[in-house]
Amino acid sequence: MGLQVNSIAKNVSMKLWFDKKSQFDTLSIKLPKSVKTKYKIVWSQQEANFIKSINNFLNRKKYSSHFLITNDKIYKQYSSFIQQHFLGVEVIIIKDGESHKKLSTIEHICIQLNEKGVDRKTCLWAFGGGVIGDITGFVAAIYMRGVSFVQVPTTLLAMVDSSVGGKTGVNLASGKNMVGSFYQPQKVFMHIPLLETLGKKEVLCGLAEVVKSAIIYDKEFFQYLENNLVAIQNRDQDTFKYLSYSSAKIKASVVEQDEKEGGLRAILNFGHTLAHAVENYFNYKKITHGEAVAFGMAFATFFSAKKNFISQEIYTRIINLIEKLELPANIDQLPEKNLKKKKAFLKHCLVAMAKDKKNLNGQVRFILIHDIGEAMLPVAIPQIELEAALSEFFIDI
Ligand SMILES: NC(=O)c1ccc[n+]([C@@H]2O[C@H](COP(=O)([O-])OP(=O)(O)OC[C@H]3O[C@@H](n4cnc5c(N)ncnc54)[C@H](O)[C@@H]3O)[C@@H](O)[C@H]2O)c1
Ligand SMILES: [Zn+2]
Repeated sequence: MGLQVNSIAKNVSMKLWFDKKSQFDTLSIKLPKSVKTKYKIVWSQQEANFIKSINNFLNRKKYSSHFLITNDKIYKQYSSFIQQHFLGVEVIIIKDGESHKKLSTIEHICIQLNEKGVDRKTCLWAFGGGVIGDITGFVAAIYMRGVSFVQVPTTLLAMVDSSVGGKTGVNLASGKNMVGSFYQPQKVFMHIPLLETLGKKEVLCGLAEVVKSAIIYDKEFFQYLENNLVAIQNRDQDTFKYLSYSSAKIKASVVEQDEKEGGLRAILNFGHTLAHAVENYFNYKKITHGEAVAFGMAFATFFSAKKNFISQEIYTRIINLIEKLELPANIDQLPEKNLKKKKAFLKHCLVAMAKDKKNLNGQVRFILIHDIGEAMLPVAIPQIELEAALSEFFIDI
C-alpha cells in the first residue's frame, strides 16, 4: 500500500538579469514555481516485508552511504534489530529527549558526518519519534545544502503526524520549533510492531493527534474511533495500522492543498492554540503535548458549541471520545485542581495565547468546527470573548 505526497523540489533553477534602468544598483532574481516531487509512505506489519522494503532502498545505487540517526533510549531497545537489518549502515546516537532538539545537536551531527567524509550522495535515516525525525530532517536539509533522508517513525505520534508534511527543525531556548525548514523525505517506512515497546503516555500523545485528524476532516473515521475503543486500548496492530494510515492520509491531503500554511493547513492546529499555552504553563514538564492538545480540543469544541456552530450532541460525542481514550477533557483532569490556581492558570493561558505565533493583527485565531469532520479556517476571537469562554470552561463548567 502506498500513499503519495507532494513535496517541494530540491533543485530550483534561477534566472538573473540586470535592470537596465537602474544600472548596477538592482539585481532581480526570479525563482520559478517549485517543481513537484512525490514520495511514498509504506506500511508493514510483518518483519519480512519491512526488511524487504528497507533492503530494496539500501541497495539503490544512487546513494554513496547510509547513516541512521537515533537516540540512546531507542538504541537500547533496538540495537540488535538495527544491526541485523540495516547492514552496512553507520549509526549516530544522540541523547534522548526534547531538550536535545537544539542547534548544538545539529552541529554535532553535521561535524560527525563531515569528519567521516560524508558526501552529498549520502542518505540519512531517522529512526525514532518526532524529535529524531525533526532533527534528522533538518540536518538533511542543511548538510552540504541538502542530502536525502528517510523516516522510520517509532512513535504513534510520528506515524500519524510528524513524519508527514515536511516540517523539520529544532527549538531555541526562547521557543519551540523556532529554527527549521520545509524538507521532504525520500520515503517513510511505517513498521507497526515498532510501537509495541512504546510507553502508555507516548501512545496517548499519538492518539490525541489521531482524534484531531478525525474531528477536523473525517466523520467516518471519528465513528471508527468511537466503535473501536477496545481494540485501540489493546493496541491491536491492524487497528493501529488503520489509525496511522487514516491520519497520515488526512494530513497528506491537507498538506497537498497547502504546503506552507497559507490557508487550509491551519486546521491542523485544532486544539493547539490553547495546548501551547497550557504546555507553557506546566513548563513542558507535568503535561504531555497530547494531553494539552486533548484539553485544547475540548475547549475548541466547547467554544464551537457556545457559538452555536455545533449541537450539544456533537459536543458530547467529542468530549466522550476524548475521555474514553483517557485523555483530559476538562480542567479537573489536568494536574491543576486548586481554584485559586485555576485563576492564575487562566491568566497565564490568556497572556500566552496573546503571543501565539499564528495570531494576526494582535488577535488570537482559533480553529473551530461546524461539524465532526468539518473544521473552519481560523476565526479571529476578540480578547474579551476569549476570556469569557475560557473562564466558563475553566471554572464554571
Ligand atoms: N514535523 C512535524 O510536522 C511535527 C508534528 C508534530 C510534532 N512534531 C515534533 O515531534 C516531537 C514529539 O514527537 P514524539 O511524541 O514522537 O516524541 P519523542 O520523539 O521524544 O519520543 C517520545 C519518547 O518515546 C521514546 N521512543 C521512541 N520510539 C520508541 C519505541 N518504539 N519504543 C520505546 N520508546 C520509544 C523516545 O526515545 C522518547 O523518550 C516534538 O518535538 C514535536 O515538536 C513535529
Ligand atoms: Zn500536535
